[in-house]
This record gives sequence, structure tokens and C-alpha cells, in this order.
Amino acid sequence: MNYTKEQEQAIFLRDKNIMVSAGAGAGKTRVLVSRMAELIMDEKNPVEADRFLVMTFTNAAAAEMKERISLDLEERLAKDPENHYLRKQIRKIRQADISTVHSFCNHLIRTHYNELSIDPSFRIGEEGELFLLRQQAIEQLLEEAYASGRESFVKFAESYAPGKSDKVLEELVGDLYRFSRSFPNASFWFEKTKQEALQLAEAKEWDNSPAVMLIFLKAKKELLQEKEALSKLLKNIAGEEVPEKYGVLLQDVSEYVEALSQTESYDAYYMVLSRGSVPAFPRATKKDKEWADYEIVKEWHQEVKELLQKQKETVFTAPAEELQREAAGIYPLLEEYIVLAQRFEEIYLAYKKEKNVYDFDDLEHFALELLVDHYDKGGQAYPSETAKTLAKKYKMIFVDEYQDTNLVQETILEMLSEKDNNTLFTVGDVKQSIYRFRQARPDLFLRRNEKYHNEEEGVSIELRDNFRSAPGVLCFTNYVFSRLMERDFGGVDYNEETALRAGEGGPMLEDKETSELLFFVKDSVQTLEEAPEDVVTETALITKRIQELIEEGYHYGDIVILLRSGAGRMEPMAEF
Ligand SMILES: Nc1ncnc2c1ncn2[C@@H]1O[C@H](COP(=O)(O)OP(=O)(O)OP(=O)(O)O)[C@@H](O)[C@H]1O
Ligand SMILES: [Mg+2]
Repeated sequence: MNYTKEQEQAIFLRDKNIMVSAGAGAGKTRVLVSRMAELIMDEKNPVEADRFLVMTFTNAAAAEMKERISLDLEERLAKDPENHYLRKQIRKIRQADISTVHSFCNHLIRTHYNELSIDPSFRIGEEGELFLLRQQAIEQLLEEAYASGRESFVKFAESYAPGKSDKVLEELVGDLYRFSRSFPNASFWFEKTKQEALQLAEAKEWDNSPAVMLIFLKAKKELLQEKEALSKLLKNIAGEEVPEKYGVLLQDVSEYVEALSQTESYDAYYMVLSRGSVPAFPRATKKDKEWADYEIVKEWHQEVKELLQKQKETVFTAPAEELQREAAGIYPLLEEYIVLAQRFEEIYLAYKKEKNVYDFDDLEHFALELLVDHYDKGGQAYPSETAKTLAKKYKMIFVDEYQDTNLVQETILEMLSEKDNNTLFTVGDVKQSIYRFRQARPDLFLRRNEKYHNEEEGVSIELRDNFRSAPGVLCFTNYVFSRLMERDFGGVDYNEETALRAGEGGPMLEDKETSELLFFVKDSVQTLEEAPEDVVTETALITKRIQELIEEGYHYGDIVILLRSGAGRMEPMAEF
């Protein structure tokens, strides 16, 4: 198997931080493994296997990586059986720090438990028992708060959870706690949030405050997009014979949009917006509909109408002064909310300590405690002695699936990386970021990539060719995602540069198939003469297609059926 030019660069470039970004199946993981092997075998500066730190996303991925690199080295050993250095490296790979972030943290904590005041025989709790502990903690928290009778708490409960049940309160506190845990230093984040809210509450010139300016500018940006669409539209229909009522409509809406786009502040925008409105779309006669641009004008009108309606209802709900009064009123509640979340953290931790069980988040936070010496006023972390020692031990740090890293993990990486001492090799694909609900931060990936692109601190390499899938699959995937994904929704524009492309040497040559979609429209169920239960009907649809394929000369062995989950689906499938 050969390497592409870009793959070679990613494997053999030395002494630089490198970030490889590429779509699925472009060989990112393969390049990572090959780079390790080549570093071990490097003639000038060989790196021994125990000097690597490799972070993967799952345990299975870590095991596979060890397997792949061992195989690579075994093959080399077969050609050079007397090479003792190589034999030693194969042994070392087994013990090497190739693991998930969690296993790494776990190991670190167990070797340094004495610095943490935790009992080293701890274990990771089952989801069920952690749930119970959380429940106990939240109950204690609310009991304490009610017993204290403090005014801010009473107000908070009245405002956000009126009625008898504490359920809403519990959920609110839980949400803030979970979110705050994604920051390396939650108390810093809480402080900053409070300060920003306080600034807003106390601002003298609210209309000009940065937060309000931001809201205003965002709204204006949305508006300007519509304005641009309008001028294109007007250019298109110039010289055409426009039905009079649509001429008037366009004129009216243009004036409204123009007036909005002239504003320079939140209040000015609010005034213009609330005093005017987008007129309804005039009813069309048959003749009107024959006008070539009828549909385009209608669509644009609908868009502007919806946008401005949304802005009215969600953002520009009141003049700035009034909003400020509200913000000032909300501030004490925010403060209380933070007090509750912080106290919850304390209580919950005490319960976990008592039982000596922890969760995966705790592993990361304990590891941080070991690796961070202190944070400065800006929230920047500085490495501890332990971190510095580790940074000397690891010559090379590798991260696979870097797009799913969260802020805590990023800080762990930062503490272990030391300029002039080791280098970082990250690979990933922002399009495949799937852990945002666990506070993964694909923006970290994008930011690092941009920095490296400008050749600050490292080199960015893009792999374009896909070696996993046949052109029919790639083409179909591109077709779907180029319509779904854009920078604001998915982190990147899905264009020619990011689309998947069949690589020379992949499965491209063998395959001439295209992809097809079988749509199952609920109303057409009768034609299949099946009971209208979805699974059964879907199965009937698939079976029918398979039978056709068999008649065309395919064999059952050519076909695979993948189900999202087996439960309840496997049986009807098997029956057919
Ligand atoms: N230059 C190449 N020629 C032929 N096959 C290749 C080449 N590079 C990689 N491959 C093969 O392509 C497949 C996909 O590679 P790999 O798993 O490393 O991709 P990836 O970019 O990590 O994908 P993912 O985004 O899903 O993690 C593997 O089977 C690999 O051996
Ligand atoms: Mg991979």
C-alpha cells in the first residue's frame, strides 16, 4: 500500500506540531500509526515506544491501534530478525500509553492518589448508583436551601419553579452543574459569568454596551443577507414586466429593509422594527403565477417576513432601557443559581467520596488537579511539577478524533505539551463531531487548524482522498451533505474542497454501483398489502428490493442489512 504525497508529509515531517484534518476514510488513523512506527525506526532520532502518549476515543480504538502498530513492527522484525532494538520496542508497545483520555487519567490518579486525598481503591460507579447519589445530593441541597429561608432562594424558586414540585429546580441545578463541569476551572467561569451579568445590570449606557451591541450586530447581519438577496432579485427582474401589486410590495419591503439597515444601535433598530411590518403577500391570479419570477419573489418575501417576525418576538422585545431593568432584576437570581450549583457540586462530591465511587468527569477533574499548578487571573492554567515531569517523559503526543475533545481534555493536553520538548500530532474531522451534547468543542479543532494554517505553532495537513468507500457511496454522501452542512451548521462549508473524493488504490476501481434510496411514504401503505406497522412495512419494502436484486443475478451473500438497533427489528426481518 502506498502513501499519497500528503500522507507522506504527515508521516515524515519532524519537529513540528502537526494537525491532520480530513474526511472519513482518508487514512488519518493509518497515518498516525505509520508515523509512530517510523519514529521508532527513525535513523537519526529514534523514539522509543514508551515515549509516546496516544489518546484515542474508545478502548476498542486503543486496542486496535496497539494491534496495528505491533503488526507493523513484527513485519519489520521478520525482515530483520537480529534487530534487538526492534524486539524491545514490540515489547514496549504493549505497555505503552496508548489509551482513552479516561484510562490515562485513571492511571495517573492511581499513581498520584496521595496528592489528591482520595482512596486509591475507588471505582467508577454504575449509572444507576450515581443517579441515586445525585438524587440524595439534590435533596439535601434543597432541604438546606429551604431551611435557610434566604430571600434570593425563595425568589428563585418562585420565579422558575412555581407550584409544589421541586422537579424543575432539580433539573435546573443539574443542568448548570453539568455544563460547568466542562470547564477546567468552573469557579473561574462562574465568576466571569457573574461579572458579565453584573456589567449588564449596572451599565449606564445600555444601548452601547458590548453585549447589546453584539445582539444588534447579529440581527443586522441577518438582515443584510436578505437585503443582498433583494438586490440580486431586483437586478434579475429589471426590465421585466412585473405585475403591479408585486411591484408595490417589493417597493414597500425594500423601504422597510433599507430603513432597518440604516440603524446604528439596538434602540434605533427596535424603533424601526416595531413601527413597521412586512405586508402580506397579495393573492395571485392565474395570470400572476405565469410571471417567471413569481416563485422567487414569493420565497424571498416569506424569508424576510419570517426573519423579522422572529427578531421581533425573540430579540427586540422591548426598548433597551426596559431590558436593562429586567437584567438588573435577574442578577440576584443568577447569583443564587450559581450558589446552588456550586453547593450541589460540594455535596455530591462528598457523597461520592463516602462511597468511594466516581464518574468519568471526576477522573478528568482529578487529573487536572494533579497537572495544573494554578490558574492566572485570565483563567490560563499553568503546569504542575508532575505535569512537567510527564512532559519530559513524552516526546510525542498523539490524539485521534481530536474534533471531539472538550475543554477539560484540551487543558490536560496543554499541561502535557511543552514547547522545545515534545510535539503534538492531532488528527480529526470536524464534520464527524458527534459529542457536542457532552460538551465536545469542535471549535478547538477549528481554532488550532486555523493557527497551524497560518503556520503559527505548527503545520496543518489536509488529506483529500478517501480509501474506504466506493465512488457510488462517496458521491451519494457528498450529494446529501453538500445540501445539509454549512459553516454555521456543522462547522465547515461542505464544498468541493471538503467533499469526499475517491483515492487511487482504494476500492474505487472495482465498483460501478450507484446508491439508491427507498422511500416509504406512509399513505402508500396499502399498495404493499401489509399491516401499517412501520417496522413490518419497512421490512416488506426491503425484502421486495432484495428479491429483485436476486432476480437480477446477485447472491444473498452480496447483501448486508444494517439496523440502527436490533431490538424489535431483527425478528420481523428474520421472518421474511
Ligand atoms: N494511501 C492509501 N492507499 C490505499 N489505502 C489506504 C491508503 N491510506 C489509507 N488507506 C486505507 O483506507 C482505510 C481508511 O483508513 P483510516 O481508518 O486510517 O481512515 P480515517 O481517516 O482514520 O477514517 P475515520 O475518519 O473514519 O477515522 C483503511 O483501510 C486504510 O488502510
Ligand atoms: Mg480514524
